[in-house]
Amino acid sequence: MEFIKPKESVGESTTRDLPSAVGPHFGRSTSKYSRQKLIFILLCVMSFLFIYFSKLFQTKETSIWEQFKNPHKEMTVDEVIFSLSWAPSIPNFTSFKNSSSAQHSVVRLEQPRAQYCVRDTLNILVEMRNYTGHPKAYGGDFIVARIHSPKLQASASGDVTDFLNGSYRVSFHLFWPGEVQVSVRLLHSSEAVKILQRGWMQDYKKVMYTGTFISGNKTETSQCGFRLSSGRALCEYRKKEDGEYYACYQPETLPCNSLITMLGSLSPSHLTNEEAQLLAQKNTAIQIKNSFNPVTVIDSHTDTPQRPTEKCVAGMNSPFPGGYFYSNRWSSSFCQTGPFLSEVAITRCLKGKTLYLLGDSTVRIWTNYLERKLKGLRFIKEGNLYLTLLAVDAHNNITVRWIKHSHPWISFHTAYKAGLATLPEVLDSIAVGGGQEDVIVVIAIGQHFRPYPPELFIRRLQNIRRAILRLYARSPQAHVVIKLENTRNLNSPVMIYSDWYGYMQNLAQRKVFEGMKVALVDAWDMTVAANTFEVHPNDVILSNQVAVALSYFCQYA
Ligand SMILES: *[C@@H]1O[C@H](CO)[C@@H](O)[C@H](O)[C@H]1NC(C)=O
Ligand SMILES: *[C@@H]1O[C@H](CO)[C@@H](O)[C@H](O)[C@H]1NC(C)=O
Ligand SMILES: *[C@@H]1O[C@H](CO)[C@@H](O)[C@H](O)[C@H]1NC(C)=O
Ligand SMILES: *[C@@H]1O[C@H](CO)[C@@H](O)[C@H](O)[C@H]1NC(C)=O
Ligand SMILES: *[C@@H]1O[C@H](CO)[C@@H](O)[C@H](O)[C@H]1NC(C)=O
Ligand SMILES: *[C@@H]1O[C@H](CO)[C@@H](O)[C@H](O)[C@H]1NC(C)=O
Repeated sequence: MEFIKPKESVGESTTRDLPSAVGPHFGRSTSKYSRQKLIFILLCVMSFLFIYFSKLFQTKETSIWEQFKNPHKEMTVDEVIFSLSWAPSIPNFTSFKNSSSAQHSVVRLEQPRAQYCVRDTLNILVEMRNYTGHPKAYGGDFIVARIHSPKLQASASGDVTDFLNGSYRVSFHLFWPGEVQVSVRLLHSSEAVKILQRGWMQDYKKVMYTGTFISGNKTETSQCGFRLSSGRALCEYRKKEDGEYYACYQPETLPCNSLITMLGSLSPSHLTNEEAQLLAQKNTAIQIKNSFNPVTVIDSHTDTPQRPTEKCVAGMNSPFPGGYFYSNRWSSSFCQTGPFLSEVAITRCLKGKTLYLLGDSTVRIWTNYLERKLKGLRFIKEGNLYLTLLAVDAHNNITVRWIKHSHPWISFHTAYKAGLATLPEVLDSIAVGGGQEDVIVVIAIGQHFRPYPPELFIRRLQNIRRAILRLYARSPQAHVVIKLENTRNLNSPVMIYSDWYGYMQNLAQRKVFEGMKVALVDAWDMTVAANTFEVHPNDVILSNQVAVALSYFCQYA
């Protein structure tokens, strides 16, 4: 069963299974009238799909239909996976020469104009070709696109629509006046995506673990993982209440409860030479050339870029793209981003508060950024630096605490420590009441889940979701931020860490936390706009992630 599609918003993907008579209407419209028509058709299509899929899921306890009626009801893992997409039918791989080639493909302006206005939509068409320069006849390529004006330190992501016939439309919202460049990258060809998809649903073995068992003066090791073939006795670590599970082969003599640490190692990927070529770094994230020059964008009203007037409130729908950089400062497109790039504003916001940063190193580096930025904030040495960090500003009564998420954790350092709390357990332990209401919790997970099937990640997200609901029940004033997946380094082993997995996980995060009172920081949007492929982005990105998060919870003029 393949559910995966390479790109686009969930709404757009509903067009995929349409009768072809309806399909071509999509995306043509720019006028208000046709947009209404579009929304109407989309609603019809969605109703049809809901009815169709509710039939499909009839045997299950919660049908998609019920989910539709009650958006706060938890979706099943399968429903979330299904919502991500379904696969465009890509012919079986024949040869490298037949695959999509960024070098041979071209980006054109759709309906070129002499100049554009701020607030206009700029549409471009990507015509994908193979290595002999013939147009591709099917879709599925994984494309990222952005507009940017380097002199203005301005940039924004584009929204890609796959026409499934070898061409793609990318829509950009023109946020600022000036000379605007367009850059489109082919992250992976559809043929490469298909290879990634192949293992994604069921391969739990891309990263395996060596467990170390210690008891008294005795140490033994054995292999650990999420799905071990049986036949040998297993130590199974299972929590009934949340469905989380992993196992190790039983060590020779020591008992299962003597597991102390686990260390990950990457399994070799079994790719043919041509498959390896498709996924090689030299064929990844290659820019496609434009057939046009930078466009000129004018603003008849004012010289400053547009800014929304609404305050940011947790639970707001966060569209993609959801903002843009200007002077290296991120502005949300749907709510006011506060002035939280300055030390004074951040300090005023965090005064008397505890900021919990829970998850992976993509929020651990928020701690480092804040420690550099706020003169009064100092690290307190305690415990194991790889498990938790604590920084305190005693004068302003600010506490910043990073806590690592539990297994899986892929690193050269100890990847697991017996007794390490899971994020739901950490959330359950957050004290409320007695002056502790001033708590902001930021959750960031994903990078260490990329090598595994989506069910593992989605189950974890759902367990976190339930813990957030419990936190709100105890303390309705608690503030929760979800920092979504961001892009990472292009030299990361692609079968383990491809940004395609990251993008799918970004969509899954949006889906699981949909309708909840949480603030989303769409780090994918920011890192695509800024063209940084770094798992640990620089301070320009970090400072803006923090500023967006704080905008949801602190007052600003
Ligand atoms: C691909 O589909 C789009 C939208 O339906 C259409 O405008 C375009 O002409 C098609 N391209 C080709 C090469 O058929
Ligand atoms: C593609 O390959 C799969 C597995 O190798 C095979 O089952 C299927 O029939 C092939 N499809 C086509 C259209 O050749
Ligand atoms: C390329 O794909 C076409 C079908 O789309 C097939 O007929 C042709 O043999 C392939 N070429 C090579 C070199 O594999
Ligand atoms: C390139 O694409 C065209 C059109 O899909 C196809 O006919 C051709 O076989 C492909 N490959 C090569 C190697 O020409
Ligand atoms: C390990 O501990 C056992 C029992 O506590 C003891 O009999 C044995 O001598 C110890 N071995 C070593 C190498 O210290
Ligand atoms: C610091 O803030 C905490 C809540 O985070 C509160 O309990 C405590 O009384 C405050 N201390 C001072 C000195 O303001």
